[in-house]
Amino acid sequence: MDKATKTAKLTFGSTSIDLPIQSPTLGPDVLDIRKLYAEGDVFTYDPGFTSTAACESAITYIDGDKGELLYRGYPIEQLAEKSTHLETCFLLLYGELPTAPQLADFKERVTKHTMVHEQMHYFFRGFRRDAHPMATMVGVVGAMSAFYHDSTDINDPWQREVAAIRMIAKLPTIAAMAYKYSVGQPFVYPRNSLSYAGNFLNMCFAVPAEDYVVNPILEKAMDRIMMLHADHEQNASTSTVRLAGSSGANPFACIAAGIACLWGPAHGGANQACLEMLKEIGTVDRIPEFIAKAKDKTSGFRLMGFGHRVYKNFDPRAKVMKESADEVLELLGVHNNPLLQVAKELERIALEDPYFVSKKLYPNVDFYSGIILEAMGFPTSMFTPIFAISRTVGWISQWREMIADPTQKIGRPRQLYIGPGQRDYVDVAKR
Ligand code: CMC
Repeated sequence: MDKATKTAKLTFGSTSIDLPIQSPTLGPDVLDIRKLYAEGDVFTYDPGFTSTAACESAITYIDGDKGELLYRGYPIEQLAEKSTHLETCFLLLYGELPTAPQLADFKERVTKHTMVHEQMHYFFRGFRRDAHPMATMVGVVGAMSAFYHDSTDINDPWQREVAAIRMIAKLPTIAAMAYKYSVGQPFVYPRNSLSYAGNFLNMCFAVPAEDYVVNPILEKAMDRIMMLHADHEQNASTSTVRLAGSSGANPFACIAAGIACLWGPAHGGANQACLEMLKEIGTVDRIPEFIAKAKDKTSGFRLMGFGHRVYKNFDPRAKVMKESADEVLELLGVHNNPLLQVAKELERIALEDPYFVSKKLYPNVDFYSGIILEAMGFPTSMFTPIFAISRTVGWISQWREMIADPTQKIGRPRQLYIGPGQRDYVDVAKR
């Protein structure tokens, strides 16, 4: 986009530079500093990229002050109420909601790709049984380029399309296999008669010894979890995927890089960390102790599931997730679960406590998703893999957008160097 009509004047020393101001469809104006180094011989310094737009994107919009999240312009609340994860995948990938025949065709394409190469079953056996499923996923998804090398040419639009469908279709199978492997049960093959979410639940919980029937309320809740996590503009893992992709790396390698980044507790790993924190708190009477620890900067402890880099009002995903949590817990009859009592009381106290109020630390999506997943029977180690399945479509949509962008170049940030100046080598005997 080069439609700047306004400029900002930047003056330092004897240098004065006019910087174009780009106006997005929504959100704050953006100072275009691309010529800053060439004309001014200076860099900008922005650790954590809190004030930096790294790319143009037409996929997702977040207004952190209003607590608003739009996928291709559609509010997340409307999609959560009316759409499904697969329909949302189509929307994110191609830009528009599908017609009925387009949706049927998309579902068919995804469904027909859910099985993984049989050789992959043996690949899993190289992992220890007690490996974290995220560790297994980073490895197996990275290895997809070895199994599906006919869809790794990033310059071929057809191969890009096939790679996208393969990843959306196979990530649930791979995550379920990682889970089954960790509990020593046989892998369950995908079933084409089931929905995307229902198939994932079946692959995780079915066993050859007895029938497993997918509960429609749990299926809907799983579908919602997937949709709510589907994309979130330029978050850490998405930026990782874009950066990896900017070098021309194949899409499977890029998504594996995204999964690795997602794993951290400040990002996707927060859902696991949050539930483990609730378990550690254990009973309502211990909450004040943990609140005090979270306020004490020397403790290094944070209330997991609270706060967000962008949302400074509330996380709109958390609102929808809370409703789902109520539905699932009602269905499963989990009213007096101590974990739930701790979560509710923690939420109440944190929303009133001046420390959390003044820093705008609200419960985020991960605060509630863990409660639902635990009630469904997932171990905490599967929470982040489920986030990875859900975010796959966002990563791929952003990667495709980047590849198709003619202005795209390799991502190469600069630095504010604070090391020693040039000095001469000292022979080892003289040090
Ligand atoms: N508990 C206690 N204090 C907190 C917390 C927390 N969860 N989060 C932020 N703060 C404080 C922080 O100490 C800082 O205080 P001060 O201004 O006095 O130094 C202030 O709030 C701002 O924090 P920050 O680290 O500068 O904010 P950030 O935008 O860099 O971090 C965050 C955002 C999500 C990493 C952070 O809030 C956090 O670590 N939360 C817990 C982990 C979590 O739940 N992550 C999931 C995010 S939602 C899922 C996803 O999209 O990945």
